[in-house]
Amino acid sequence: MPGSLKLQSNGHPVSLESNLEAILGVDSPTPYLYIDAQQINAAVEDFAHVFSRENVFYAVKANSDPAVVSLLAKLGVGFEVSSLGELDILFGMGVEPGRIISGNPIKSPEFIEAAATKKIGYMAIDSQVEVEKLSEIATGTKVIARLVVSNEGSDWPLTLKYGVEPDEAVQLLLYASDRGLIPHGLSFHVGSQCRREATWRDAIDAASQVWEEAERKGLDLAIMNLGGGFPIPYEKPVPDRPAMLESILRYAQGRFPSRAQFHVEPGRAIIGEAGALVGSVLGQAQRDGKQWLYLDVGVFNGLMETVGGIRYPMVAERDGAPTTFTLAGPSCDSFDVIANDVVLPSPKVGDKVVIFSAGAYTTVYASRFNGYQIPPVIIH
Ligand SMILES: Cc1ncc(COP(=O)(O)O)c(C=O)c1O
Repeated sequence: MPGSLKLQSNGHPVSLESNLEAILGVDSPTPYLYIDAQQINAAVEDFAHVFSRENVFYAVKANSDPAVVSLLAKLGVGFEVSSLGELDILFGMGVEPGRIISGNPIKSPEFIEAAATKKIGYMAIDSQVEVEKLSEIATGTKVIARLVVSNEGSDWPLTLKYGVEPDEAVQLLLYASDRGLIPHGLSFHVGSQCRREATWRDAIDAASQVWEEAERKGLDLAIMNLGGGFPIPYEKPVPDRPAMLESILRYAQGRFPSRAQFHVEPGRAIIGEAGALVGSVLGQAQRDGKQWLYLDVGVFNGLMETVGGIRYPMVAERDGAPTTFTLAGPSCDSFDVIANDVVLPSPKVGDKVVIFSAGAYTTVYASRFNGYQIPPVIIH
């Protein structure tokens, strides 16, 4: 009975907890990803209230399901894309190209051509080679330099892969200008699921110095993109979102000229809490003194981020004595272990397990490895 379910005791409230009956009542075999439209709306409002709607660009990579994207288009946010596939989803829905940006500093030529032909807002650069590629394919494109910044406090760091050093950024923008591109601003990403607000402040400080130097060298920048990375509650608590957003924006406004426009490109924070992944228990075993519980959803078909240490809050469709499990997915690969030390009330084969905060970076990462289902997205 959903009414008697108790959250695994990790001490943190989860937004969709009160929707358990609806989440479990979906008429679909497991696994499936239940998405709550109201929760998406609430997250959008948090961002739109602080930054204003036209400055919020949903990072499509977090969840590119057409129903999710189409709802977000109706809610009036813009979109951040990285690939031709993501661009095609948006163009297929008639999203206005001016409402699309790309924060990916290493893009395919096909993507650049399609994005530039339709005139999307701007694209990120962080290397000379990217400038040369863009200038050959899409001269006149507006570009922003993505800076490398600290990812301290982020559970899913991105920093080693991308970003120009702040002391080389102006040089790169000047080079872009020489090659027929239009320097338009700066960006950074503090890493995904960043729970440390000071990391944004440090990045803003570094970016404001680059901005000043750019102005001294005659560049006229307009956009300061503060990236994504805004955290959602999993097992660990996170700062209050409205207060955190407000405080980051105020700090940024104090360090840039008044004409700077602040963009954000959240993914996880828009869709993460809106999703609950529902799986079923496939088996249970005792091995080497440990209780193992096997689900029909695992690392390969939705829970890839557990390999980086993300620990989802969850409940089982049973009320009983708590037992500590090693939780595993269905595939034959021993890598397919979701988490150790998960406390659940001894579910039986066929019981459902609801995994909260699972709207972002789950189904988009999933594969059909070993013939298991990619969970369908069911939006309510
Ligand atoms: C360029 C860019 N922007 C935005 C995001 C969204 O980040 P998050 O989901 O942490 O908000 C990402 C995530 O990888 C990204 O690479």
